[in-house]
Amino acid sequence: MNIPDIIIAIDGYSSTGKSSFAKLLARKLGFLYLDSGALYRGVTLFAQEERLINKLNQVSPELKGALAELHLEFGSDGRLFMGPRCIEQQIRAMEVSAQVSPIAAVPYVREWVDSQLREYGRKGRIVMDGRDIGTAVFPNAQLKIFMTASEEVRARRRYDELVAKGETPLLEEVVQNLRERDYIDSHRETNPLRRAADAFELDNSELSFEEELAWVVGLIQGKFGIL
Ligand code: CDP
Repeated sequence: MNIPDIIIAIDGYSSTGKSSFAKLLARKLGFLYLDSGALYRGVTLFAQEERLINKLNQVSPELKGALAELHLEFGSDGRLFMGPRCIEQQIRAMEVSAQVSPIAAVPYVREWVDSQLREYGRKGRIVMDGRDIGTAVFPNAQLKIFMTASEEVRARRRYDELVAKGETPLLEEVVQNLRERDYIDSHRETNPLRRAADAFELDNSELSFEEELAWVVGLIQGKFGIL
């Protein structure tokens, strides 16, 4: 498909399959895929390693200054690096999931991440997924999608994903984490998770990847008049 240099923003609750869908779409269009959640996870891992967040999820004020020293970058294959170290596996672990939403609610953390994200978006041709991409990071994105799926489907997907990576989570723990993050993400003061007024909603509880892709290709063809 020959499409203009647009930005496609995909937002939604945790484990709605945003990143698999966004990756697939980016590959189909020849766009760059960017996972904004990975940066929040990277900041969380950094805060944990530097002991700038405690077990009660209280963030030390020193985190603000420390962010100036933090270098997070996506490799060409999309994996996240902290300086020279690939941290892709660590940022997906439950320990990070358990603390990422309180960290992502801190306004200066959001500013730090947003400035990195906007840099990647300067030339367009990206698909970015997250919680506030269509509402705050790129409010002028030419195509916005808001993804949903039932809680049961979401929990099962995340559980299977963790098991496939060799973790041994309890299903109950996974459900609890999804609920907690969804609550914090949609109730925080700075750029909470919500559907942009001009976003198209996709409930993928019962859809295959092929069906999702057919839906979005139809949407793009209709919106940009491409056959
Ligand atoms: O993979 P999953 O959907 O569970 O989460 P993620 O995309 O890896 O994001 C991890 C966390 O980062 C979310 O629960 C949010 O707290 C935060 N986040 C955010 O606040 N804003 C974004 N644009 C992306 C992620």
